[in-house]
Amino acid sequence: MRGLYAVTPDVVNLENGYWGIMAEPVRREFIRQTDMINYENTCYVRQRSAGDFEGVRTKVAEAVGAAVDEIALTRGATEALQLLIGGYNKLRPGDAVLYADLDYDSMQYAMNALKACRGVDVVKFNVPESATQQAVLDAYARALEVTPKTRVLLLTHVSNRTGLVLPVAEIVRMAKAKGIDTIVDAAHSWGQLDFKVSDLGADFVGFNLHKWIGAPIGVGFLYIRKERLADIDRDMGDEDFPEVDIRSRVHTGTVNFATVLTVPAALALHQEIGAAAKQARLRYLRDYWVTRVRSFKDIVILTPDEAGSYGAITSFRLAGKTSKADNDAVVAQLRDSYKVLTVRRAGVAKGQCIRVTPALYTEEADLDRLVEALAVVTDTKAG
Ligand SMILES: Cc1ncc(COP(=O)(O)O)c(C=O)c1O
Repeated sequence: MRGLYAVTPDVVNLENGYWGIMAEPVRREFIRQTDMINYENTCYVRQRSAGDFEGVRTKVAEAVGAAVDEIALTRGATEALQLLIGGYNKLRPGDAVLYADLDYDSMQYAMNALKACRGVDVVKFNVPESATQQAVLDAYARALEVTPKTRVLLLTHVSNRTGLVLPVAEIVRMAKAKGIDTIVDAAHSWGQLDFKVSDLGADFVGFNLHKWIGAPIGVGFLYIRKERLADIDRDMGDEDFPEVDIRSRVHTGTVNFATVLTVPAALALHQEIGAAAKQARLRYLRDYWVTRVRSFKDIVILTPDEAGSYGAITSFRLAGKTSKADNDAVVAQLRDSYKVLTVRRAGVAKGQCIRVTPALYTEEADLDRLVEALAVVTDTKAG
């Protein structure tokens, strides 16, 4: 796997949660497509791109287990989820919408904006820290119980803050039983975890393809279950497509054609490696460092070890060190003294933390460097 990726030797990059470095065959295809677009310009775009884009949409739909008329391409998960949250047209004044501390910032903003534009109450609650799947489920059950007017619930499949994997299917089932719709943020999950969209049970899901599928930056998609299309408005009154066509729910304007045309190469590599093998390797790498540092003095691992609760991403903090400054200092020490790149994450109810995200190209020796660094940072003696 390491040979598939050209990465800088200057640092051990454990900040692969931002986006995924393209594997070499994908990068070469992206360059080829960029050259083609630049050379052919509108000769290609006006005459042939529509058919090719449909081919890409079909491949994405097949790979995620949806019908092609249930997905529309976007520039990423933010665009997909903003269109789902903002376009959901069944909210009435007095309804409530619900989300949690571990949801992504810009999705929280989009939910907050519903107060002004739809007249709803926006309610936020906290997911328990390092909790069992049952405790997380109980927390969602309680939140729905104390907010009986909830109409829409936002769920983040894999939290960008702590890497916690929510038991999405169970929460969706629980919400559906109460007549509540869920919008699922799958930005971090597809490609990191092995699943099909039907496994989630949700009617509205936003994805990107530039994190764990390894496409070039700037592409994602939204999923709307066929029977639910009418519940999401057209994007800014789009008239390019009929109202019954999901593509009318996304009106991006000019996109990076080469990015979209490279998606099949990224999907082909994803499938060649295998989604299950990717998930297993990423969990192995996560376990490799977590099991070695768990007993270190004052290390608090925020992401539980329970099966199904984690993928590649896990966050930690030093006991009691919850501020921005505390965590910035550790990130800086890891980077400057040990050349190990991590990132501080805010927004977790119990305090800020540091996120560690290996990738497919990460090797054990890279993680040994992190473990050695954390031994010094925590003043834990070797052995
Ligand atoms: C949980 C989550 N949701 C949404 C997004 C936004 O994704 P994109 O960058 O594709 O717009 C991210 C990006 O980091 C994320 O981690």
